Amino acid sequence: MTLTSGTALVTGGGSGIGEGLVRRLAERGMTVLVADVDLGRAEAVAERVRADGGEAVAHSVDVTDPAAMGRLAGEVFERHGSLELLVNNAGIETGGRVWEIDPARWRSLMAVNLDGVFHGVAAFVPRMIGQGSPATVANVASVGGVTTMPFQGAYIASKHAVVGLSECLFHDLADVGSAVRVSVVLPGWVRTRIFADAGGLAPQGDSGAGEHFEAMRVSNLERGLDPYDAAERIVDGLARGDFWVFTDDRGPELMRRRGEQLLERGLPTQP
Ligand SMILES: NC(=O)c1ccc[n+]([C@@H]2O[C@H](COP(=O)([O-])OP(=O)(O)OC[C@H]3O[C@@H](n4cnc5c(N)ncnc54)[C@H](O)[C@@H]3O)[C@@H](O)[C@H]2O)c1
Repeated sequence: MTLTSGTALVTGGGSGIGEGLVRRLAERGMTVLVADVDLGRAEAVAERVRADGGEAVAHSVDVTDPAAMGRLAGEVFERHGSLELLVNNAGIETGGRVWEIDPARWRSLMAVNLDGVFHGVAAFVPRMIGQGSPATVANVASVGGVTTMPFQGAYIASKHAVVGLSECLFHDLADVGSAVRVSVVLPGWVRTRIFADAGGLAPQGDSGAGEHFEAMRVSNLERGLDPYDAAERIVDGLARGDFWVFTDDRGPELMRRRGEQLLERGLPTQP
């Protein structure tokens, strides 16, 4: 799986890590479909790729809508015949003590971060299996998929679930002898608009949730990798065929600590 030809589709490709992936994959020679709920963002990224000499097409899709994902998959296979890489990347943030999280916000976060990955798999994987040639599904979780912390219950629960779903998908694909492989991506800090876009949706009450969320937003901007650099690490991992894919060396270290904690049945610790 060299990821140098064929077609790739990146959900949430209009910003941040998704945009970095779109640019890197196009530079390697893939035709990249930039799928985002914000069509303006997707078009701007596709336009930039084309201006740089690559091939990219913008698509408007809401990953929370299974019918829309199904229609997109039909359109992609009709136009391109196969899909060599599907990146289920779209994701959103929120904050708050577990008992403070607004149920509507919980649902909308799960709808994007977890259901969106499921809908991507359900819409595209049967067709990818059917094409009979090698292909990869990359589900973007987070180092938050193997860590825990206060104020991040919804986001962390969604990312642990994406890790579990990806491992189960690995078993399902192996059971049916498919040429489709799956990877799960665990980015560390990457400088994007994810906290800014979540805006005032983090609780601002007395618990400190608002201050914590603001500190995370600032950390993301000050400590985060450039998305284009993070994408290079991700694409290298996917091209090697790694199951666990990281953006920096802290990811493997956090996984090691999680392993030790489970082995020793230790109390939860923070990263
Ligand atoms: N930035 C980080 O530090 C970081 C760390 C670990 C994991 N991640 C994960 O990486 C992924 C990308 O995040 P990012 O930081 O690049 O965020 P971002 O906000 O910069 O980009 C996310 C994109 O997803 C799109 N999107 C949101 N809801 C959608 C929907 N329903 N359907 C289709 N598209 C939708 C947005 O319009 C946006 O363009 C997410 O899954 C996030 O959880 C990010």
